[in-house]
Amino acid sequence: MAKIFINEKKKQGHINPEIYGHFSEHLGRCIYEGLYVGENSDIPNVNGMRTDVVEALKEMQIPVLRWPGGCFADEYHWKDGIGPKEKRKKMINTHWGGVVEDNSFGTHEFFELCEQLGCKTYVNGNVGSGTVQEMSEWVEYITFEGVSPMADLRKQNGHEKPWKIDFFGVGNENWGCGGNMTPEYYANLYRRYQTYVRQYHQDAPIYKVCGGPNVADYHWTEKVLDTCAPTPSRLMNGLSLHYYVHPDGWDEKGSATKFDEKTWFKTMAKALYMEELVTRHGAIMDQYDPEKKIGLIVDEWGDWFDVEPGTNPGFLYQQNTMRDALVAGITLDIFNKHCDRVKMACIAQMVNVLQSVILTEGPKMLKTPTYHVFHMYKYHQDADLVESYIEGLKEVGEDEIRVPSLHESVSVSADGTVNLTLNNLSVTEESEVEVSFAELKPSSVTASILTEKMDAYNTFEEPDRVKEVEFTNYEITENGVKFSVPASSVVLLRIR
Ligand code: AHR
Repeated sequence: MAKIFINEKKKQGHINPEIYGHFSEHLGRCIYEGLYVGENSDIPNVNGMRTDVVEALKEMQIPVLRWPGGCFADEYHWKDGIGPKEKRKKMINTHWGGVVEDNSFGTHEFFELCEQLGCKTYVNGNVGSGTVQEMSEWVEYITFEGVSPMADLRKQNGHEKPWKIDFFGVGNENWGCGGNMTPEYYANLYRRYQTYVRQYHQDAPIYKVCGGPNVADYHWTEKVLDTCAPTPSRLMNGLSLHYYVHPDGWDEKGSATKFDEKTWFKTMAKALYMEELVTRHGAIMDQYDPEKKIGLIVDEWGDWFDVEPGTNPGFLYQQNTMRDALVAGITLDIFNKHCDRVKMACIAQMVNVLQSVILTEGPKMLKTPTYHVFHMYKYHQDADLVESYIEGLKEVGEDEIRVPSLHESVSVSADGTVNLTLNNLSVTEESEVEVSFAELKPSSVTASILTEKMDAYNTFEEPDRVKEVEFTNYEITENGVKFSVPASSVVLLRIR
């Protein structure tokens, strides 16, 4: 029997809703088809945005959306995507599949989408192949209210009022596709470019995100912070981190749906590695920013497997199983537990690309297992993290690959409800669990569960095979709750 101790009185930080953020790039069928079908499509839409997808994302409580890339961001020239659509430039998307990008989804469309979703906006600027002037003018175009060349252009293009940029990324992966820079070189460029990301609204300042490391490149983190010292918090609000899970490494990503138990455990171990990454990058940040004013922004994370057979290799379209659900649950638990430093995160990517919450095929849409995890975890958004730990934790795995059988995080919502999310990483064994509290004597519980075989997934023929359902198999005891978590499952308990 595993015992989970929750000290609901010991608040350890506030969980920013933006930890539950998403990423949408001009890549494959994410933007085009997945989100945007155009006003003249037979697929029901509002101003070109798919109604089914928008509704599902709202229901999941999407807090923030990052756009337009990714690698695409450092090749994107925003002026190509404004004005009458028939006059917008057509070009080749060199990074992703070599297909024609007609720029019909641009700045106005992105802000329209975010308005429909009711979410915050995260715009990623171009450092790799763009100028300071171009970046500066984009910010002016989007956010300046008064009289100026860019504000006037926006008005000419039909949008009188400015929009709000909540987060702005100064380049993407500038150690790689964003220009192959050294950290010292990028950091100096960052200092320069961010200067001209002007704050036109003092009451709603833009949160500036500096391009951070790839995975365990601690040297990058150190050098970038070093170059932006001594007062990094004046220059940057956040530092990004990218980390993708592929169980056997980059060169052998493996199938998204056909894998054995050993690969399952390798995947779990690689998901758990996020803990080390956040801790170690966080420790470097502590040296420069002990007050934790700068957020660690994990704006690309998730599983990256081989594309579905027969699909364009440049489109990164992959299926999504219970394995992805567990990776999402574990990762979100880690972010919750590090909410003192992790201020935003974006799973890659929202629709039809990598670890998506939604897949589409023509007019059809399905919610993946990962969607259901985000839906269950939404109660952590804007709640306070509280202390929790598990005693009597077993290890599960195969051969040398060992992982803890359970992984949890706990928060308390503003109304006092305790939210416990728990993942069972075993593929064969259910786990008996007893939860106890510091003071709370539970009187009511509502709960849901996502459980299926490790490689189960939803198809357009059977879209609800893996689905969140009500969980009633618990017992309220004098000082807690007892229940049993089936193998390969994610559980949410809301306890009062
Ligand atoms: O998400 C796919 C790609 O992965 C992004 O464009 C890039 O930033 C990362 O390497």
